[in-house]
Amino acid sequence: MKIARVTLSDRASSGVYADLSGPEIERVLRAGFVNEPGIISRLIPDDRAMIADTLRSLCDEEGCDLVVTTGGTGPAPRDVTPEATRDVIDRELPGFGEAMRAVSFAKVPTAILSRATAGTRGRTLIVNLPGNPRAIGECLPPLLPAIRECLKHLNGS
Ligand code: MTE
Repeated sequence: MKIARVTLSDRASSGVYADLSGPEIERVLRAGFVNEPGIISRLIPDDRAMIADTLRSLCDEEGCDLVVTTGGTGPAPRDVTPEATRDVIDRELPGFGEAMRAVSFAKVPTAILSRATAGTRGRTLIVNLPGNPRAIGECLPPLLPAIRECLKHLNGS
């Protein structure tokens, strides 16, 4: 299985602070999903065209089965990850965003500020997560069964 994680952050990509969110995605995936040594990683600014190009390349050139993004899902003007995701997906899977907002809202009222979504491009599943590392630990584990099942469906089984 080929997996990529993409961190969207102006500040982390320019070195203002370290990217803790991308490594957190890897930690959760390795703990509960796959024993995958070679997870591809990207760290780019909150630029819609750059995000869309990166996602297209991970799907079409790298042939990833799963691409997980973190960051850029909120209401701030520079938050454009859901828009860039919709620019590249063939079909949206709104249940992923609905589920993470539902499970998180019970713990953190601000969780509903995330506009995260998900969708498929060819045989690749793209899932947005919020940018906060704690949010990744809360949002990603409950999605793993649906991610696993979706990847089976995309591969025709
Ligand atoms: N979800 C969880 N589980 N925990 C959180 O701390 N933070 C919220 C929300 N979702 C949060 C969360 C906040 S404050 C924002 S602004 C949005 O995610 C969007 O974050 P992003 O722009 O970094 O993607």
